[in-house]
Amino acid sequence: MSDDKLYIVLMGLPARGKSTLALRLLEAFRKDHIHTRIFNNGNLRRIYRPLAETSCAEFYSPNNSNAVELRNQFARMHCEKAKAYLDNSGQVAILDATNAGRNRREMLEKYLNNHPLLFIECINDDEDILDLSILEKTKLPEFKHLDGKTAKTEFLKRIDYYKMIYAPLKVERNYVRLDSLQNKILSEKHTDAIPLYARLRDYLVTDEVKNLFLIRHTQTEYNIEDRIGGDPGLTKKGKEQAEALGQFFAGRKISYIFTSSLLRTKRTAEAIAARQDACRIIALKEFNEIHAGVCEGMTYAEIEKEMPKVFRARETNKYAYVYPEGESYAMMKPRIEEGIKKSFFLNRRAHNIMIVGHQAVNRLILSHFLYRREVDVPYIYIPQDRFYHIVSTQNKKLFELKRYDKHFFKKTAQGG
Ligand code: F6P
Repeated sequence: MSDDKLYIVLMGLPARGKSTLALRLLEAFRKDHIHTRIFNNGNLRRIYRPLAETSCAEFYSPNNSNAVELRNQFARMHCEKAKAYLDNSGQVAILDATNAGRNRREMLEKYLNNHPLLFIECINDDEDILDLSILEKTKLPEFKHLDGKTAKTEFLKRIDYYKMIYAPLKVERNYVRLDSLQNKILSEKHTDAIPLYARLRDYLVTDEVKNLFLIRHTQTEYNIEDRIGGDPGLTKKGKEQAEALGQFFAGRKISYIFTSSLLRTKRTAEAIAARQDACRIIALKEFNEIHAGVCEGMTYAEIEKEMPKVFRARETNKYAYVYPEGESYAMMKPRIEEGIKKSFFLNRRAHNIMIVGHQAVNRLILSHFLYRREVDVPYIYIPQDRFYHIVSTQNKKLFELKRYDKHFFKKTAQGG
């Protein structure tokens, strides 16, 4: 057996991030000049069969023997193509399909036996993410002849059919079971020596961000008064700032904007989305601002006067201080991490990702990429007239605080 070429066979239920992972691996290998190609069974299905047939859940029923045979044929076609590719200049062939049952995987192991074969199982059962991913899937051309509700029903039924034959990786010779939301390896097994394994493993667990635009919502009444929390809307100036953001980003493709569930972030995002061709705003509660408990709606001066103990205790250790009936930065951290994972998973293949957050939220997001001691996190500078542009890949790190309103306002705009 040659030991420098590799078959990677993905497996997992629909909408678990397999195709996104395939593309991530392709890009990473190609960057390292490793000849790689993806063989996606869904593409064959869409080429050879009418969409009206393949969008229908019955096509995926394990009891539909004609369709089972057709799908197996597509799998065999790709086996042959992948084999031919590795026989020539190819080094890594990625076979992207559900491959949910043992029979199919036995067939693949038997047929693709001239180089090591590694299965990667993509696992993710987060309900919010699944809902949003399914919504995205049903907007693909495959479903364009169906209304949204029917498309969703068909897709959910398709998943149920796959669940009937789903067998997690266990008896296969080589595998990795991956939490595809967290980019975390859950278990692994190697019987053969797997070429490029160290690199591959690293790709699997690395959170890469090509272009993250991290924006703080624009000015609110509360900002002017130095009041915290609540759910205020934007001031006139805040609306103008949001408009300036929209103009600034008009030339860049933003497919998704992730916000909190609070009005000020949504309103800011709406002004940006208004100048994009197709841009979805997704509100994640994970990105809600720190909950100030009994201090919600108060100004800092009021807190100092009316609750001096609270004020001073927070000053002493701002990161760990928990507002009575509220939160601390330390408590927010896990939900912010969850929000980052969710937004990155949903943003998938788009190169630009945008988050419109809040002061404390953005400090924690920044500290995910930029090392800071915990005690320093609550003091990171988060202005409203600038945004952070972050790139964090294996080959490049960039953190830049940029103005967006230079050409919009004659006078220098002030952050609130
Ligand atoms: O003042 C705006 C705000 O977003 C408040 O809602 C929030 O309590 C505060 O910033 C967080 O910043 P700090 O931790 O510095 O009080």
